[in-house]
Amino acid sequence: MNLHSKDFGKDFIWGVSSSAYQTEGAHDVDLKGFSIWDEFSNQKKKIAKNHNGNVACHFYHHYSDDLKLMQSMGIKNFRFSISWARILPNGHGVVNLKGVDFYNRLINHCLELGITPWITLYHWDLPLELEKKGGWTNRDIVRWFTEYVSVCVKSFGDRVKNWMVLNEPLVFTGAGYFLGIHAPGKKGLSNFLAAVHHVTLCQAEGARVIRNLLPDANIGTTFSSSHVDPYTNSEKDIEAARKVDVLLNRLFIEPALGMSYPFKKMPLINRIEKYMKADDEKLLVFDFDFIGVQNYTREVVKHSLFTPFFKASIVKAEKRNVPLTAMNWEIYPEGIYHVLKLYNEYPGIKKIYITENGAAFHDEPVNGKVNDLKRINFYKGYLQQVLRAKQEGVKVEGYFSWSFTDNFEWAEGYSPRFGLVYVDFENQQRIIKESAYWFKNFLTVPHKVTKPHSVW
Ligand code: FCB
Repeated sequence: MNLHSKDFGKDFIWGVSSSAYQTEGAHDVDLKGFSIWDEFSNQKKKIAKNHNGNVACHFYHHYSDDLKLMQSMGIKNFRFSISWARILPNGHGVVNLKGVDFYNRLINHCLELGITPWITLYHWDLPLELEKKGGWTNRDIVRWFTEYVSVCVKSFGDRVKNWMVLNEPLVFTGAGYFLGIHAPGKKGLSNFLAAVHHVTLCQAEGARVIRNLLPDANIGTTFSSSHVDPYTNSEKDIEAARKVDVLLNRLFIEPALGMSYPFKKMPLINRIEKYMKADDEKLLVFDFDFIGVQNYTREVVKHSLFTPFFKASIVKAEKRNVPLTAMNWEIYPEGIYHVLKLYNEYPGIKKIYITENGAAFHDEPVNGKVNDLKRINFYKGYLQQVLRAKQEGVKVEGYFSWSFTDNFEWAEGYSPRFGLVYVDFENQQRIIKESAYWFKNFLTVPHKVTKPHSVW
């Protein structure tokens, strides 16, 4: 069946996603402060091949050409993030007008080209100065974060209606404060739980700042989400899968909806109470206009006695004889259908956008072309499942592909390529991949065929 954007209805929002650290480069220009990612990725052996984001896609200098390319592909919505340390080099206090100016130029250029900007306020690049004071483990971050949000909304809110408070809180707290494989490289349950609570507070407090300053804003926040299946039908595996589902999909949304942390389903995180003050439960709640669901794969989980805390472990996709992307993530289109259903079941969620979905493959230009058929098939398969959910009444109203260009893929460096547009990181040349042409075609509204006048 030939899928077309019009099948999703005329008001459905289509766009592409990116983030500041993964694309901007220019890590030390125009008075920008360093972020935890500047520091982490410039250490040895933290990132594959010792890559870093110092230059990335040079988006800071290249944004105008990239936006024109985006426009030529028929893309009308662009989700990008703001680098906190460009705006407030110390995390709080003095505002860097050159940083504000960059985002003003970026936003204005989007609008000139008919592209609607969607801002993510926090996509993982915490100002390093704040990390020196404990970062997300320090409750003062609520003050720092709300100050930052307020500067952004006052600077850009006259032109930007769509705001996302956080990008994937579980990933940046889990990888950055529990496993230590992302910046700032901290480990352990105490760091993790303190960070989780302060992040969840900021999720709601940041949203309240936007609401107060911009009552008509469309306010959301985004979550990483993966459908979870048990490895076997044994009770132990089913129980392990349930715990992992709580952790991966429900930990940050339930307190925002007024359901508190999912304690009962997972007693271990009870320990988070240590970081909570008397009225915190209420402060965690915010009535978001939308939830951004980000999905790539599914997880298969089995009981594991030796895994500390969770007693559950993920059965790697490489061991399951399933189709894989270059990240070794299983290609599992039905997964996006299931996570849409999962979020749709919460009565408090009003509207869902897929704010990230896409795949990395080993793309190589041949005679100036990148023929990424696998990516086209990935998009077709996943979009079909989004449509299936929509047709069953799920309130999904938009879809953003990850990502517009290839970029810096965190701990994996530049090898995994997620873009619709290929980037040659040696010379910053762009090549429009076949998947981008496919996407353009998918988005293009067919002209109405009018009957030709009869000619005498
Ligand atoms: C998500 C991140 C995004 C990108 C994709 C592949 O977890 O939000 O920045 O790295 O994965």
